[in-house]
Amino acid sequence: MNLNGVLDGLSGDKPMKPGMVKAIAKAGFESVRIPIRWADHTIKTAPYTIDPAFFTKVDAIVDECLAAGLAVTLDNHYYPVISFGFGPQDLSFEENLDRLYAIWQQLSAHYKNYKDETLFFELMNEPSIVLPPEQWNDIVAQCVKIIRHDNPGKTIIVTTPSLGQHWTIGLLEFPADEWNIIVDAHYYLPQTFTHQGLSYAMAGDMKDIPWTGSEADKAPLDKDFAFLSRWSERTGRPVNIGEYGVCSNAPKASKAAYLSYIRSLIKKYGFSSNLWALHRDTFQVYDEKTGKYDTSMLKAIK
Ligand code: GLC
Repeated sequence: MNLNGVLDGLSGDKPMKPGMVKAIAKAGFESVRIPIRWADHTIKTAPYTIDPAFFTKVDAIVDECLAAGLAVTLDNHYYPVISFGFGPQDLSFEENLDRLYAIWQQLSAHYKNYKDETLFFELMNEPSIVLPPEQWNDIVAQCVKIIRHDNPGKTIIVTTPSLGQHWTIGLLEFPADEWNIIVDAHYYLPQTFTHQGLSYAMAGDMKDIPWTGSEADKAPLDKDFAFLSRWSERTGRPVNIGEYGVCSNAPKASKAAYLSYIRSLIKKYGFSSNLWALHRDTFQVYDEKTGKYDTSMLKAIK
């Protein structure tokens, strides 16, 4: 599950409702990916210190998740300029890179005593579409080097170039002899179905688009997941579908059918996964006003 809307800067970082973490574990999820906008809490001049009060806030949530038996991925969600390709121009690109490396250096030191088995580092959510893949590979290599100094055994999650798309997976390169990496791809295809009515995804004009599970609906998904699996087998590298989901504009029965089929493919190929999203988002499966899950969606992804 993606534990969104709490530390990703999108909902003003509203605190989680008490009992939320238990509700995630009770629903049967084994792990949470926590999108965190570290850059919003890091000063803009060297040595680019992360606000200690923000660490305290994040730690409380991480500790609560671990205590509830959930494995935790610390996802560096959005770094302006690098994950958006745009953003404030007050720092040069090189300064932004130094700042990003300083963030990972601090995170690595801060979390080094957390267990390798249950805490994972995700370098960045969806690298920008304007960031050349070779440059992303260089950033990955540098971050891995920084993290390995304090954390020789932590699993590092690396997202594919160009917004975490599955078809860019072959463009990734890995530091030599580095095998403790999980490769992350996000899957929202067809976008015209999963993001219907959402203008930011250029699907604003789409409405009432069904997904029925017909052979024609399933075929492209089958092809994409088989492609990922072949890549994983050929390279010996595990794959995580770090985001998949459907927005609430989609017909409800279609949403359940699609999620259920994606889950069946995830299971078929032995990938791990994180649903997008818990709450505070049009992709949500949990309504914090009523304190209830949409049980048809939970059933779909069992
Ligand atoms: C990406 C974005 C997130 C968005 C999701 C679905 O992960 O970072 O904010 O809600 O995709 O579009």
